[in-house]
Amino acid sequence: MMELTNDHIPIHLTNLAQRYGSIYRLKCGKTTMVVLNSCDVIREALVKKWSDFAGRPISYTGDIVSGGGRNISLGDYTEQWRAQRRLVHSALQRCCQQSIHGVIERQALHLRKVLLDYQERAVDLSEDFTVAASNVITTLAFGKEYDKTSPELQKLHCCLNEIVALWGSSWISALDSFPLLRKLPNPVFARLLKEVARRDAIIKKHLNDYKSQNKINEDAITGFLLQGLEKQKSTECGELLTDVHVHMATVDLLIGGTETTAAWLNWTVAFLLHRPEVQTSVYEELCTVLEERYPKYSDRHRLPMLSSLISEMLRLRPVAPLAVPHRAIRDSSIAGYFIPKNTVIIPNLFGAHHDPTVWSEPYSFKPERFLKGGDGFTRCLLPFGGGARLCLGESVAKIELFLFTAYLLRDFQFVLPQGENSLPDLRGVASVVLKIKAYKVIALPRP
Ligand code: HEM
Repeated sequence: MMELTNDHIPIHLTNLAQRYGSIYRLKCGKTTMVVLNSCDVIREALVKKWSDFAGRPISYTGDIVSGGGRNISLGDYTEQWRAQRRLVHSALQRCCQQSIHGVIERQALHLRKVLLDYQERAVDLSEDFTVAASNVITTLAFGKEYDKTSPELQKLHCCLNEIVALWGSSWISALDSFPLLRKLPNPVFARLLKEVARRDAIIKKHLNDYKSQNKINEDAITGFLLQGLEKQKSTECGELLTDVHVHMATVDLLIGGTETTAAWLNWTVAFLLHRPEVQTSVYEELCTVLEERYPKYSDRHRLPMLSSLISEMLRLRPVAPLAVPHRAIRDSSIAGYFIPKNTVIIPNLFGAHHDPTVWSEPYSFKPERFLKGGDGFTRCLLPFGGGARLCLGESVAKIELFLFTAYLLRDFQFVLPQGENSLPDLRGVASVVLKIKAYKVIALPRP
């Protein structure tokens, strides 16, 4: 029996792996969870035996935030879920081939202007990174940016943030473990219900606006999804998916696409303050290889320092450190241990990324390890999970991380505020997304 009071649960679970090995069981109330802590056991469950472990745990509060389990991230592995994921996957692939480069470039240039406007003052950039990431995903989803001219998108963003924060609180998770508590008044739960209703009203309005157009614009993801519903009606499967699936998939993309990218950028700047010489090498590489111009995603193979920095940050701070819990949908096994149906599986990606048998000095920030790492390293890097539940936004995220980092490091040198000798605290706070504690930085424009 143990109490998980640590702020940083992934580190705590990783430390337990040193005592109990790469796979162990935890009992949490009535639920038994199996925690996987190495690349090999995570791959065995998520990739090799994906069809045994593709389920999600079913929970009372999860059902409330996910429209009765009809979203992708919390929805269970069913025929409907597969159709929903396939449809959204096609929409995202289409974006990656067509519009995404231009959308990110515009946001990166806008971010540049915001940073220049600070005129070398010490600031916390987390909100600016959130706005940039949120603008990318809302532009892709709705064809509209979230700025002062679209207050309802701003409202939507605040509301989604609030839902993620409330859902992660112990006031809410207690309702899953102790059903009797559902009968008592709970102000936090009441707020969650209010925010879910607010979220649904805003998204519904957007989708209705779309539908009322004479011809649905398929360029934006929501347009593509609504068109997909229409097409499906004329196929043999009839109406497998409904408006609610499009609605909830939109929520998935907005939540998945904002805090993750923003948190990652905030981590990257903080680590670069700890090792300024890495910043210099990436900047020099960008100047030498690209001379005057900004990079394209297709330049990534010619920018090994930048690519190594991105891989190392994904290793050290996988922003979804415990992925999303999986559920065994039938009896199976991992590493020779019997795993009964319905066991909850926690892939500890943070643990796998700090496994000393794979990574030398696993807690050190050393992008250069990827310069000589080779394929073995790529196999052990699992920031997006794997198999049937692989992060749906992986391709979008990779392009975003690459372009935002390249634009920022080409245009600015990030330095500590004068007289401030304390570097940012790199331990972070883990809830669903692993975030860094607030810190201030100065962005000096490059000549
Ligand atoms: C799921 C990581 C960005 C959408 C996940 C999972 C991880 C992850 C670890 C859970 C996989 C599992 O359950 O095994 C990341 C990281 C990101 C990122 C590290 C960026 C640094 C994004 C973006 C989007 C997105 C930009 C949307 C455009 C999703 C969705 C799921 C998911 C919809 C649920 C997939 C499913 O359950 O089938 N992500 N993500 N993510 N992510 Fe991401």
